[in-house]
Amino acid sequence: MGSVVDDGKKEALQEAHRSLADLNPTVVFVLGGPGSGKGTQCANIVEHFGFTHLSAGDLLRAEIKSGSENGTMISDMIKEGKIVPSEVTIKLLERAMLENGNDKFLIDGFPRNEENRAAFEDVTKIGPSFVLYFDCSEEEMERRLLSRNQGREDDNIETIRKRFKVFQESSLPVIEYYNSKGKVRKIDAGRPIEEVYESVKAIFAPKDEKVNGHRHTLMECLILFWMKWCKN
Ligand code: ADP
Ligand code: C5P
Ligand code: MG
Repeated sequence: MGSVVDDGKKEALQEAHRSLADLNPTVVFVLGGPGSGKGTQCANIVEHFGFTHLSAGDLLRAEIKSGSENGTMISDMIKEGKIVPSEVTIKLLERAMLENGNDKFLIDGFPRNEENRAAFEDVTKIGPSFVLYFDCSEEEMERRLLSRNQGREDDNIETIRKRFKVFQESSLPVIEYYNSKGKVRKIDAGRPIEEVYESVKAIFAPKDEKVNGHRHTLMECLILFWMKWCKN
């Protein structure tokens, strides 16, 4: 039998799961290796498409700063490039979604492994609309991380190598899982920021806008043709 405090925490968690299921938000998972440009591109998407950006890594770093009881454990895992237990990360994501009030979220850097993926779907009953996958070579990601200059404890060459290994071994299988369900939108992220964003935009632009865009161009052609014909 759990203590009164444990029972209270469990009840609060279940309430959060229920509220989130009621909200039934649109979720896009943004995945890719460390330094592939997830955060950079999410900022652009937020600006133009009304999503709220939630980075699992940022939420974990904020949790360390807040002096939470899990702080030391999270900090140790980040320094080693290891993946924090899903229970912790999912709680932070759920809280952030519920506090925010929007119903469209870019969840960046999550799910990072099979445990993350299965636990999130199990607990929240939410599946992603699609997965945006930033594909980039390790050489390029390493260059970017070593010049990121955000004072991150994990942006050093030893931890970077560990993070690449974790990405290969644990995160790529998650991308493969979603790919087998036809949910992955892969982007060549090795290009300059603006070029990458052009490809991102094409994925987020509503389909009818594209159709309307084509219709618009056709109308313009017809008008030009008609004007020319009238002149003759
Ligand atoms: P992630 O969130 O995937 O770890 P970031 O968005 O933080 O990656 O980008 C890592 C670093 O690389 C940052 O310093 C960022 O300014 C830079 N960066 C992001 N995208 C590109 C790009 N397409 N080309 C060059 N540098 C980039
Ligand atoms: O995505 P970001 O590079 O900010 O993640 C930094 C670190 O945070 C990861 O290397 C990992 O240690 C931790 N993390 C995690 N679980 C996630 C996302 C990030 O443990 N889903
Ligand atoms: Mg990031």
